[in-house]
Amino acid sequence: MKLLVINGPNLNMLGIREPGIYGTESYESLCRMVRDYAAERGVEVELYQSNHEGDLVDKIQAAYGNTDGIVINPGAYTHTSVALLDAVKAVGIPTVEVHISDVNAREDFRKVSYIRAACAATISGHGLAGYTEAMALLLDGGAP
Ligand code: DQA
Repeated sequence: MKLLVINGPNLNMLGIREPGIYGTESYESLCRMVRDYAAERGVEVELYQSNHEGDLVDKIQAAYGNTDGIVINPGAYTHTSVALLDAVKAVGIPTVEVHISDVNAREDFRKVSYIRAACAATISGHGLAGYTEAMALLLDGGAP
């Protein structure tokens, strides 16, 4: 069983960017948390972050045939990218959308998600715990 956890633009700035919204934990500590949870569940996990839309599309495409589930926080591309939606549809890998903040309680433009139409579930506003909740959903259909 292999999971892929993808983070889009500016998520490498966790801990620095708008801590009142995204918290004070760094991207590295998010990675540690995800790796620890994968080890606890006995599954393989790969983490990937990019600020570039095409790189994210390439990563989703490269998962075809070798990955059982994707957790993705597309960052701002959530609200703009048909290309990411199409990539998830193309590979047909079960995917869960994650947002650290509660996107529905923020600006109107954040309420739109293109990728959501290709995702099995969306977890929004649970902070970093949303990532392990998404992994649990993919692994056994329930939150940890
Ligand atoms: C985000 C919410 C997006 O609106 C924003 O552009 C991000 C992070 C979140 O995790 O809450 O970069 O996806």
